[in-house]
Amino acid sequence: MEVASAAHERAEGDAPPMTDETDIGPVGAAHVPVLVGEVVEWLRPRPGARLVDATVGLGGHAASLLAAAPGALLLGLDRDPQALAIARARLAAETDRVHLRHAHFAELPALLAELRWDGADAVLLDLGVSSLQLDESGRGFSFRADAPLDMRMDPSAPGTAADLLNTWPEREIARILAQYGEERRHRAIARAIVRARPLRTTGELARIAERVCGRGRPGLHPATRTFQAVRIAVNDELGGLDRFLADGWKVLRPGGRVAILAYHSLEDRRVKEAFRRWAADCVCPLRTPRCTCGWSAKVRVLTPRPVRPTPEEIARNPRARSARLRVAERLGAPA
Ligand SMILES: C[S@@+](CC[C@H](N)C(=O)[O-])C[C@H]1O[C@@H](n2cnc3c(N)ncnc32)[C@H](O)[C@@H]1O
Repeated sequence: MEVASAAHERAEGDAPPMTDETDIGPVGAAHVPVLVGEVVEWLRPRPGARLVDATVGLGGHAASLLAAAPGALLLGLDRDPQALAIARARLAAETDRVHLRHAHFAELPALLAELRWDGADAVLLDLGVSSLQLDESGRGFSFRADAPLDMRMDPSAPGTAADLLNTWPEREIARILAQYGEERRHRAIARAIVRARPLRTTGELARIAERVCGRGRPGLHPATRTFQAVRIAVNDELGGLDRFLADGWKVLRPGGRVAILAYHSLEDRRVKEAFRRWAADCVCPLRTPRCTCGWSAKVRVLTPRPVRPTPEEIARNPRARSARLRVAERLGAPA
């Protein structure tokens, strides 16, 4: 089960604890891109390169990548049209070099084809929610403001948090609370949710978590894990990441690099395993006597251990505290 293996990974010391990113409070108001210097350094955008920011958000990483590479072109995607509008304004001085699209990053191959790009030299995925989503009361991501239970990154997608909480079976709600939130009191919270139906607001959900969990541990609001779990389920964040990771190396040109910033262990473990698979010389099941898979390595992993923010960055930007950056490079000489 995922939770058990995530806990095991933490014992090894290389996987992040579940994030408390929904608990960053007013600090999130000024969005600061995470590990931005490291991302630019690892992706080493070159003049004239084709760059993809697959989670462009408020455009912080994109602006730094463009600044580092005169003449480079950038394709920026986001599921959230509100974020895209902000990125568009932020990158306005570079409109000639920037294409912005409202899209899921699993659609990247089709978008590259539409632009007639034969691949990208650098791809960034900065997973999770943005400070805009957390701070914008009305989107329902945060327990800090009372708002309708929505939590959709893409407001045109079907299925809000209220739909999920008011219609899913109790055991399914308990499962996501355990798996996506590592919430110890998952069964009791799921039971209380079902009893309180219909739920309409974030305040109602937060009060249920508070009632069941008590005051929680210092620095972590008792509703943090519940909100994280519901948000991950509403947006099918892990399913979307899996779709990209199935063959994401194909979007890179030879010598191109992909950098992925993850904020909790379930994402980071998937990235680590996908990179390991992409870099393997054989993917036959263990104990197969002779290799029959015909697979060969597609990338080399540049970060055997994830890059983590310094204590200074965490002090400046608490959202960075659970970030882990992994980078891989497509094999073959750049054209
Ligand atoms: C952490 S923020 C990115 C912040 C950005 N790097 C910056 O510097 O402003 C994550 C963004 O990714 C978007 N997002 C999450 N999952 C996505 C997906 N599957 N496809 C496209 N965008 C996604 C979210 O809507 C959010 O705006």
